[in-house]
Amino acid sequence: MERLDKLLAATGRWSRREAKALVREGRVLVDGVPALRAEDKVDPDRSTVLVDGGDIGYARHVYVMLHKPAGVLSATEDPRQETVLDLLPPELKKRGLFPVGRLDKDTEGLLLLTDDGDLAHRLLSPKKHVDKVYQARLDRPLGEADRDAFARGILLEDGYRCMAAELELLGDGTEVRIVLREGKFHQVKRMTAARGSQVLSLKRLRMGPLVLDEALAPGQWRRLTPAEVQALGEER
Ligand code: URA
Repeated sequence: MERLDKLLAATGRWSRREAKALVREGRVLVDGVPALRAEDKVDPDRSTVLVDGGDIGYARHVYVMLHKPAGVLSATEDPRQETVLDLLPPELKKRGLFPVGRLDKDTEGLLLLTDDGDLAHRLLSPKKHVDKVYQARLDRPLGEADRDAFARGILLEDGYRCMAAELELLGDGTEVRIVLREGKFHQVKRMTAARGSQVLSLKRLRMGPLVLDEALAPGQWRRLTPAEVQALGEER
């Protein structure tokens, strides 16, 4: 249950003060009945709330695609360093968004932020094997033998055997595309290092059905489309 003025303000269309005024002016209907008080509680999943006869466009959760730039932390707050939340406007920060998984500080690319804990949990669950696609620039080229090693499962320096991963060689092999179905700490960097090649730059292009919108420059963001939200929800 949510206070009516809070619910109206959460759409981003009205401030709390404007929402109270709408109620006072009799312009808000809850299940067809004019709302009497802005403090009244409503259940947004069960009740229909209209303003001037129109749907208020309330969404229980917010989903944001960010093109994370290199140099920014995948965290909600940090006393010293800029975080991905600092790239969002205050009204979105107030919704309590958090990044779904982490990219290293020097990694750029697709980062999903949401306040939907259930979805985040599902996407990050090690049992789900949601695939992630990265593009990396390397200091030494990888080749066919490395592609086979990725397909068999790379053995990391700490003894962990990675799941089978795809390695696509681009050009001379210093540019590669890697598809992972797990997300261990520094995984791409450690996998290429295990084959004698260091990552110079790294970008995430895709996570499950969600593809980085190339119209977004590093640091820019947009809300997910309803189709993108639906596709993520189907990733169960
Ligand atoms: N693998 C890495 O090494 N770093 C990232 O940020 C993501 C995957």
